[in-house]
Parts: sequence; C-alpha cells; structure tokens
Amino acid sequence: MNKLKIGICGWGNVATGLFKTLQTNAAEIKKSSNLEIEIIAIGARRDNPKCDPGNVIIERDIFKIIDHDIDVIVELIGGVDVARELILKALNAKKHVVTANKAVIFNHGDELFSVANKNGVKLLYESSVCAGTPIIKLLNQELAASKISKISGMLNGTSNFILSNMEEGMEFEPTLKLAQEKGYAEPDPSFDIEGTDAAHKIGILSSLAFGSSLPPKDFYIEGINGIYKDDFKYAYEMGYTIKHLAIAKSTNNTIDLRAHPSLVKLDSYLANLKGVRNGIEVETDLLGTLHIAGSGAGQEATASGVISDLIYLSDSKIREVNNINESSELIDFFDLDFQYYFYIEASDVSGVMASISSIFANKDISIESISQKENLNDDLVPIIIITDPFKEKDYQELVDNLLALDSVNKIRSIRIEPQ
Ligand SMILES: NC(=O)c1ccc[n+]([C@@H]2O[C@H](COP(=O)([O-])OP(=O)(O)OC[C@H]3O[C@@H](n4cnc5c(N)ncnc54)[C@H](OP(=O)(O)O)[C@@H]3O)[C@@H](O)[C@H]2O)c1
Repeated sequence: MNKLKIGICGWGNVATGLFKTLQTNAAEIKKSSNLEIEIIAIGARRDNPKCDPGNVIIERDIFKIIDHDIDVIVELIGGVDVARELILKALNAKKHVVTANKAVIFNHGDELFSVANKNGVKLLYESSVCAGTPIIKLLNQELAASKISKISGMLNGTSNFILSNMEEGMEFEPTLKLAQEKGYAEPDPSFDIEGTDAAHKIGILSSLAFGSSLPPKDFYIEGINGIYKDDFKYAYEMGYTIKHLAIAKSTNNTIDLRAHPSLVKLDSYLANLKGVRNGIEVETDLLGTLHIAGSGAGQEATASGVISDLIYLSDSKIREVNNINESSELIDFFDLDFQYYFYIEASDVSGVMASISSIFANKDISIESISQKENLNDDLVPIIIITDPFKEKDYQELVDNLLALDSVNKIRSIRIEPQ
C-alpha cells in the first residue's frame, strides 16, 4: 500500500468536500489505486461549522502547512495573489501542489509550472477546469498521440443553466435570480455571466492543447447578458439554439481563442446539453470528435478531480506533461470570419427590408436568409437575418451603418458556430 501525506490549505466548500470524500470513499480509493491518503494538517483561518476536522492539526496561518512533513499541498483558497505566493513557496520547498484554482493557473500558469519543473515537483490542476469532469489529464495523456484541432464547449454551468431556462421561455433576469436561489450563481454573478470564468478555463485548455502562454494575450470575451428569450424563438425557427461557447482552435500555427454566445445547430451534441452541466467537444485526428460532459462545480465533483490528481501523483512512473512554455501566437479576433444572426427592430414602413438589405450589400456581405416576423406593436417589426460568413473587422461599421437608418430602432446579434 502506498501512502500520501497531504496538507490542505483553505477550509471552505471544496476543502471540506475533499475532507469528507476522502473519508467516505477511502475504501474505493484504496481498492482502485492501492493508495492511502492521510491528511496531516489543514490551513483554516477560522473553523467551518459545516465540517469537524477531528484530530487533524489546524494551522491558522495557511503558510505554516508547508513546514509539516507532507508530500503534497492542496491549495483550495481560491483567488490569485495569495494563492500564487502559497504555491510558489510550496514548490520551492519541493512539495507537490494540487490546486482547483483556475484563476491562479490562468494568470500565473507559465511561472508556476516553470518553478515546479525547476524544483522537480509537480503542479496538478484537474479540477480547475470543469471540476472533476476529466479533461486536463485526458488532453495531457489519453490524447497524447492525437493531434487536437479544436476544443469547444460550455465551460460555465451557471451560463448554461440560464440559457437552458431561457430556451424554455424565461427572460434573463428571473432566470439569473432562480440560479442564485438554487446556489448555481454567486450573489455577484458577474464572473460567470460576463464570460470570464469560461474564458479562464478555455485559456488553460488552449495552453495544454496548443502550447499558448498563461496568461494568454488578450482575447475576445463576451457574456450572456445581452441575450433575450425572443432570440431563442427566432433561432429555433431556423434550426438553432444559443449556447455560451468557449473555443480554442488551431489553424496554421495560430490559435483562435474566444468565449462568447453562439448559435449552434439544434441537432448538435452541445445544443442538447442542458442545465448546469458542462460539456466539451474535442476534435482530434485519430479519434474523430470526442464528447465529455459532467458536473462542472460542487463539493463532490471538485473533490473527485483533486483526488484523481493525488492518485496520479502517487504513481512514480508519471510522465512529465506540461508543455506550457511553448508559446504560440493567438490569431487576431478581428481577422476571423463569422456567420451572424441579426435581430433588427425596425419601423413597419414600406421599403424597410430593401434599405436594410442594401446596407449589407454595400459592405459585400451576403445574406443567407431574411424574414420579417410578427409585429411587436403598430410601429415596430422584428427582422431576422442570417448572413454568410464575413470578417469580424467589418462588423462594427455594418452595425453603425444599420443604426444610422431612420427606420432601425435596435440591433442584437450573435455569432454562429459551424458544427
Ligand atoms: N466550489 C466549486 O464548485 C468549485 C469548482 C471547481 C473549482 N473550484 C475552486 O476551488 C477553490 C476553492 O473554492 P471554494 O468554493 O471552496 O471557496 P470557498 O468556499 O470560498 O473557500 C475558500 C477557503 O479559503 C479560505 N481563504 C481564502 N483566502 C484566504 C487567505 N488569503 N488566507 C487564508 N485562507 C483563505 C477561506 O477562508 P474564509 O472562510 O476565512 O474566507 C475559505 O476557507 C477556488 O479556487 C475555486 O475556483 C471550486
């Protein structure tokens, strides 16, 4: 039987979930990995009424955990600056580190991996992306022989929950409130609904699959707060639904990296993953397209990812896996081509369709379909347009020209992701 001595830093949701899961699933872990994981100390600046740590040593100063006779520090405090300092100190003290912290990996990954390599220890982070739903080790190991061309998916459970409910007819604000009541969204939900959380995760996956740097250069990030329930209705009529997609795609040694709402075909795999689940599609040369879906948050799901890293660490035959320093160029978002969905609210006057169409024609943008929907009131009518692909750099001028028409009142748009 192998033994692994660990210290846990942080005593919140995930840390207490890990503590409990290591007890409830100890037999399972021993059976599958011949490993006994012993918690030597916990860094908790205060008690957590939801969990009794029993006889385990408690340090009120989390940095003191590093001084104990342990093999691995499990960083579960979250945030960036203190977490970075803690991980650096642990790695320099030649302790392995396991973290669930996407923010610190996204912002300081290159530095942290390089310090880990220098010290001959490992920094593992399976649960930083989609909690325990396996994706990091899948990309690193199981797909090691395959060339990955694209990773795309819904990497934020809160956004997927909100959009799935809007698909059923709810508006954005009440759905957000419901997500908060169910504990899926934080009291301040901006990190999720503005797309930052999903962007952190795709940045990490891109660095793994394509060697882009951490932090990545600036890339395009848009959240879900500009979407209305009617957009689902119009998208549905044309065979689409709306998802928040995070995408990393390799094209000719450049990387297309972005996170924003997209129309996806109704019969696609990602379209049918609803609720708070995360779903990822990985396009490879040897296996074709792979689909992974599962819970992207929660105590137990995250504990599962942390424990898988601990088991992995205990295997002395593990290969060196991080290729993070091999930076690749990010493609300029404005050089990409997108097919677009447009919702244009216009005056119900004769010739309005023609004047709108001519704005597209003047910019050499072809229209795949255009339809006038049921009037909103006596004066206003929605016009739905699907374009052919055109350069993102032409988008803003197109919208400005449309808004300059006296007959156009309001415009919304969503990019369409080819499947
Ligand atoms: N929750 C999930 O479902 C989930 C899923 C995947 C990944 N993660 C990641 O897991 C990590 C932990 O998340 P969580 O949900 O467990 O957060 P949490 O419930 O807020 O717990 C954070 C813990 O860290 C402590 N802490 C924070 N800053 C500290 C500092 N500067 N010094 C000492 N202690 C500090 C907090 O202490 P106080 O209570 O005193 O503030 C608390 O005990 C985060 O990186 C998160 O992104 C979470």
